[in-house]
Amino acid sequence: MSSEIVQADATTIVIFGATGDLTCRKLIPALYSNRLKGRLWDRTRIVGMARRDWSSEYFREHLRKGVEEFGGPLDEKVWAEFASRLTYIRGDLEVPGDFARADEQLRALEGKPANRLYYLATAPEHYGPACDALAAADMNVETEGWRRIVIEKPFGHDLASAEALNQRVHASFREHQIYRIDHYLGKETAQNIMFLRFANTLFEPVWNRRYISNVQITVAEEVDVGGRGGYYDQAGVVRDMFQNHLLQLLSLVAMEPPASLEANAVRNEKAKVLGNIRPIRLEDVVRGQYEGYRGAERVAADSQTATYAALKLFVDNWRWKGVPFYLRSGKSMPERMSSIIVEFQAPPDVMFGLGQNQSFTPNMLSICIQPEEGIHLRFETKVPDTIAESRSARMDFNYHEAFPNVALPDAYERLLLDALKGDASLFARSDGIEIAWALIDPVLTGWEQTPDASPLHTYKPGTWGPAASDELLARAGHVWRYGCGEEGCCLT
Ligand code: BG6
Repeated sequence: MSSEIVQADATTIVIFGATGDLTCRKLIPALYSNRLKGRLWDRTRIVGMARRDWSSEYFREHLRKGVEEFGGPLDEKVWAEFASRLTYIRGDLEVPGDFARADEQLRALEGKPANRLYYLATAPEHYGPACDALAAADMNVETEGWRRIVIEKPFGHDLASAEALNQRVHASFREHQIYRIDHYLGKETAQNIMFLRFANTLFEPVWNRRYISNVQITVAEEVDVGGRGGYYDQAGVVRDMFQNHLLQLLSLVAMEPPASLEANAVRNEKAKVLGNIRPIRLEDVVRGQYEGYRGAERVAADSQTATYAALKLFVDNWRWKGVPFYLRSGKSMPERMSSIIVEFQAPPDVMFGLGQNQSFTPNMLSICIQPEEGIHLRFETKVPDTIAESRSARMDFNYHEAFPNVALPDAYERLLLDALKGDASLFARSDGIEIAWALIDPVLTGWEQTPDASPLHTYKPGTWGPAASDELLARAGHVWRYGCGEEGCCLT
């Protein structure tokens, strides 16, 4: 298939919805940083398209502010050269004729055949129509260079709409042209999960039901819903965070080793493990809403939307049978903290003569995704100068200590480069997206149809969510572990 695709010697990145937040906060700072590091090909230009009547000069000024505010320090010389690659064209995504006109403008700018990376940085309702319109203007055809399309999340609102969107996108683009982005997969620490598991012999032998007691994935946010009430009240935490980011992290922790890092090899394993998850029971899900949420802009006064959820699920395969995976995420938590904690089983205490009700603290491996990136291992050690007293100690790996001269790149830097290179291994495939929705959908419909089976709790802003979430773990004798806090990972 790929032999039919022509590789031109110039590339145009076309951002649709280019006047929005994503372009100035994430996409342009990431592309600029790649250019600064010498990673953006010389013959690359960036064209923004949106409805507003902006000039290219105004567009560049606007983006410069974005880089200054959200990117690293700006180097005047590099910026001047980078800015010369930026052009703005006016076009309305709802007017199909505007795409044909945009194509003419692009061809005039390009002067000769060029590859194109289309980036849909638009509201989700434009994803389908934009693909139709690109195809209608033959902008999907790969005879003069490759054509790829990056689609932001949310990819669908439920299983049916995700399937419909996949079908609609597939009517215009083949799967190898489609890059469904999940920025969590571009985070350095998320990428490191595969290295930790498969580039070491130490962990893999114990990475299974015989040694692991439970796995906890937490993505806590200190921020509240802010000005995003309009979107968030329709989405809620499960659609916003679980269907994509948390299930992607889970698949990295739980999947079997792929035969290579090739995109389909990795995505086959991820799809397999997600497909092995047992349907989630409503009684294994806790939902919460922080007090004051209903007063946020564009949020319904009687909103039932969850801003916090915690759930327990099981992967029914040889490796994981019976091991609970606990996932939680919420807004208005005490701090920003994303971590994966693998809790091992406690050893039998036969020879140490621990007193009644005493036991060893289980070993724990904590993969800290943010804000303090690192990996920490907690193990038991003898307290010096005692007969047989044991205490937990830690072995730490912190990125900033191990790699003092390397700043961790923003996830979009890597993901944009991968899309330009044609490497889709860190992007979701259509089947992965649909399997994830198939898991999440029954939870969402269950909340609507039998609300009492999993009532909406409230929680105070700045707390770790409703008490019911602790009870969910307590039922199996587990407790939430807290890693990667402001003081570094404490693994308490
Ligand atoms: C986005 C969600 O996908 O991820 C946001 O829509 C959330 O609601 C964000 O705040 C969190 O990303 P990060 O990288 O800040 O952890």
